[in-house]
Amino acid sequence: MARILIVDDDEALREGIAETLGDLGHEPVQAGDGAAALARLAKGGIDAVLLDLRMPGIDGIEVLRRMRTLPAPPPVAVLTAVPTADNTIEAMRLGAVDHLAKPVGRDDLAALVARMLPAPARAATAPPEVGEDELVGSSGPMREVQKSIGRLADSETTVLITGETGTGKEVVARAIHRHGRRGGRAFVAVNCAAIPGPLLESQLFGHARGAFTGAIADRAGSFREADGGTLFLDEIGDMDLAMQAKLLRVLQDRMVVPVGGKPVAVDVRILAATHRDLRAMVAKGEFREDLFYRIGVVPVHLAPLRERLSDILPLAEYFLARAGGGRRLSGEAAARLLAHPWPGNVRELRNAMERAAVLAPLAVLSAADFAFLAGEATTTATDWLAGDLPAAVARLESELIRRALAACGGNRAEAARRLNIHRQLLYEKMRRYDLDVSANRTGGVGEADGSVGEGRPKTQ
Ligand SMILES: Nc1ncnc2c1ncn2[C@@H]1O[C@H](COP(=O)(O)OP(=O)(O)OP(=O)(O)O)[C@@H](O)[C@H]1O
Ligand SMILES: [Mg+2]
Repeated sequence: MARILIVDDDEALREGIAETLGDLGHEPVQAGDGAAALARLAKGGIDAVLLDLRMPGIDGIEVLRRMRTLPAPPPVAVLTAVPTADNTIEAMRLGAVDHLAKPVGRDDLAALVARMLPAPARAATAPPEVGEDELVGSSGPMREVQKSIGRLADSETTVLITGETGTGKEVVARAIHRHGRRGGRAFVAVNCAAIPGPLLESQLFGHARGAFTGAIADRAGSFREADGGTLFLDEIGDMDLAMQAKLLRVLQDRMVVPVGGKPVAVDVRILAATHRDLRAMVAKGEFREDLFYRIGVVPVHLAPLRERLSDILPLAEYFLARAGGGRRLSGEAAARLLAHPWPGNVRELRNAMERAAVLAPLAVLSAADFAFLAGEATTTATDWLAGDLPAAVARLESELIRRALAACGGNRAEAARRLNIHRQLLYEKMRRYDLDVSANRTGGVGEADGSVGEGRPKTQ
């Protein structure tokens, strides 16, 4: 059932259409002129409009024109006693769904309304109402992250969120805040990398009026803005050592000292994120060890997208749905997305889906619609998918293992953790795929490495 607005200055005609719509199971709403129609539309809740063109005052064409400035105008069909080429063209140009000559019979009206309203099936698969902060994904690593968020939300501990660029660190920070006791209070995010040292101090702690040239008014600073809520210190690894010392003091004393002002108590929960390896920075003296232990109490790590392949398609479909337009992925497009290494992680995937949603010519996206993805995938996409299932899976597994090992400098325990498999299984697979670098150098195809006696076939 839909609520349909009938706009016509002829009352008898309006009543007739209203009765028919009622019979068809819809709820008719009437307006006797353009001004009344626009006033009713502004209130919202109208699913479709049947619009007369010739009316005293604001005419139908003008109603159409003004409707285009509404945030989400409902579909409009024009019904006119005097159809002309001009008013037909103009009405269609202004976005009318159809343009019919009066009188319109019951069957035509039923067909018209059916065309104007979204089909029930489509309505059911329409993008769910999801907020910006939705956490999509059910891969092993993602589920672990979701569980951590649940466990950490209500506590007051500082959480350090790590992961490559675009993996969703900020989304996770917002989720921890939203699900926790402070959820209704402020969430303030500060990007420590974007603000030079001296400015960062007054940004975070505020300043008193006249504290320095240019301080023309008191400034509260992010800590006090977040009072009662959560302060998200993004890119904390980029904070200079002097600021690190000041931050540590605030975390210990729960007091901020505005530049040129007196200490003020604050009640703030701290979440921090970085794409850097803070432990390594501590070792090099670039990050204070005491601060590291203070903020790194509970780490949450976001694996890169290439290590959680099963998240790629759900995320792709989520971004596609959010882009609107009802587009879907073909099987080959899905394979293409799976084969891409996603150096920019979820952000890159989101951009790719938004771009494809705008540019793709057909409702079903093909692999060609993702030709803009970096060259690497173009050449490998076909190879990856060649042969039978075991061969394709083996290719994928060995590549993921190779990358994980490379990313951890050959540390197998670490690589196994990243891949979310047991170390024994990693060893077994490394042997199977000839990735055992300690026994022979990687690859080693056709090289006389002393182990050829095994006679293992190394052909593709
Ligand atoms: N699990 C997810 N579900 C839905 N959207 C996600 C998810 N992860 C990331 N995103 C989206 O991807 C984009 C990048 O996420 P976000 O900004 O949180 O990454 P980041 O790790 O903070 O990146 P950077 O290190 O570059 O700051 C955002 O648009 C975010 O909404
Ligand atoms: Mg970020």
